[in-house]
Amino acid sequence: MRIGIVVESYWGNTAQVAEAIAAGARQTGAQTVVWSAAQAPAQIADVDLLLVGAPTHNLKLPSSSSRRIAARRGIDVDSSGVREWIASADLSGVPTVFTFDTRVSLHSGSAAKDAAKKLKRRGAHVEQGEGFFITGDTPVLQAGEIERAKEWGSRLAC
Ligand SMILES: Cc1cc2nc3c(=O)[nH]c(=O)nc-3n(C[C@H](O)[C@H](O)[C@H](O)COP(=O)(O)O)c2cc1C
Repeated sequence: MRIGIVVESYWGNTAQVAEAIAAGARQTGAQTVVWSAAQAPAQIADVDLLLVGAPTHNLKLPSSSSRRIAARRGIDVDSSGVREWIASADLSGVPTVFTFDTRVSLHSGSAAKDAAKKLKRRGAHVEQGEGFFITGDTPVLQAGEIERAKEWGSRLAC
């Protein structure tokens, strides 16, 4: 199985989750490729499964205004991310997409939910996947989340 992952991340946590999902998938023999959303190809081909992940900003996918807030906290930000990538992506060759996100709150709206809604509008067959949880002023993943991401990657690849 070939799995592609498109990810956006500012403090690196969502990127770590993406790498852990990929590592879990490879344990079952899958081939994986991880793209930063700012550099992801507009047309994705040759994957059996695509995952799209982003940090939750203001209950949704990051936007230009939420990225400005991250930039004010000293983070290098790209001018585009998953939101912009979805708007121009050609997903006609992708059988299934799963979304995932990172966030602080269990009960907040989420980037995964927002991405799933936007991907559906673009005609993708999409499932909202997992949320992975963050803690701290400088955000870090909660204990056990990397392992959970690896397990999810293994399950998806089976
Ligand atoms: C502008 C901004 C808005 C945010 N809004 C939310 C939110 O609505 N809900 C939430 O749970 N976390 C929110 N967060 C926390 C982020 O989800 C957290 O920074 C992110 O998961 C870290 O992932 P990253 O290291 O990949 O950037 C927000 C963070 C920023 C910078």
